[in-house]
Amino acid sequence: MMLINWAQFLSGQKMSISIGSVRTRNRVLLAPMAGVTDAPFRAAAWRNGAGLVITEMVAGEELARGRKEMERRARSLARIRPFVVQLAGREARWMEEGARIARDLGADVIDINMGCPSRMVAGKLSGAALMRDPERALRLVEAVVRGAGDAPVTLKMRLGWDADEITAPKVARLAEGAGVRMITVHGRTRNQFYRGRADWKAVRQVVEAVSVPVVVNGDIVDEASARTALKASGAAAVMVGRGCQGRPWFAGELAERLDPGSGVAPLSLAEQIVETRRLYEDMLAFHGSPQGVRIARKHLAWALERWRDAGFLSDGEVAAWRARLVREDDPDRVRSVLGELAGALLEKEAA
Ligand SMILES: Cc1cc2nc3c(=O)[nH]c(=O)nc-3n(C[C@H](O)[C@H](O)[C@H](O)COP(=O)(O)O)c2cc1C
Repeated sequence: MMLINWAQFLSGQKMSISIGSVRTRNRVLLAPMAGVTDAPFRAAAWRNGAGLVITEMVAGEELARGRKEMERRARSLARIRPFVVQLAGREARWMEEGARIARDLGADVIDINMGCPSRMVAGKLSGAALMRDPERALRLVEAVVRGAGDAPVTLKMRLGWDADEITAPKVARLAEGAGVRMITVHGRTRNQFYRGRADWKAVRQVVEAVSVPVVVNGDIVDEASARTALKASGAAAVMVGRGCQGRPWFAGELAERLDPGSGVAPLSLAEQIVETRRLYEDMLAFHGSPQGVRIARKHLAWALERWRDAGFLSDGEVAAWRARLVREDDPDRVRSVLGELAGALLEKEAA
């Protein structure tokens, strides 16, 4: 007879969430961020224990029209499974076609963007603008579900357009009815953009409106904020965006703190340096030169800020290293500055 350790079984259940037939590794997901979570960054987060990683937003129409930039966004570097592609758009037929192409490119899950506040996206009635028009949002979800075939579809949204138009519970209910299997809510309205604080408690209205897993997002940067967000919202998992900039391993570290055994132990400074240098190499390989050199700059600058926050660098040192790193166009020169930086950091740590 097989014995079940119920405590372990139940804590295992708690540690990950189901997206239809797909399971996350744990309950800390990396947020999609255009210009940040490209394939190399996602690979870094994934090998360091993130529960799920999602592509940058891909315009469904441009993907369907074969625009190279969108195909690049919808590609994965390593065999990261499940592979989640996020689509944005406003026209059902293009979103359906976009979902079909994403499936052909290997997507296991399709996520729909209804959270982007940018005028370019929201102004064209996609992204967060869809929160104002639940019927249109529903038609879009139905189209993506059709295009996705047997792949589960998820939805990422904000609370609504503004404080007077909190439509998230309604949109969530409609989306669930149309077959969406997980809903992430950034606890801000569109008109807040990134101002103010994310309202995790307001996310509870969505948790109570649907029975699919809800993920709480916005301003989660450490264990305390993650625990408070989970408690206030009643959500099944957290999603972290900016909190992972400069430290793609943070999602896995946070998962480990929330549920021991589900993520990775805190990386030592030496391990962080190795990961940062590997990210740099992966960015060069993925984007090629000179784009890769330019794209990697912001990641290196964020890493410096993290090391300052951890007490390894002063503000002046951050500025000096940044100036040296962003000045260089030749990847070999950047590599050699990174080598010097590694030496300086490890010396500081040993002191
Ligand atoms: C630079 C940047 C790019 C973003 N791009 C996307 C995107 O492509 N798709 C999306 O759904 N959200 C996008 N977001 C929103 C994040 O996924 C997340 O909802 C938001 O940043 C709040 O979470 P945080 O406080 O943990 O960063 C982006 C945010 C940032 C800062």
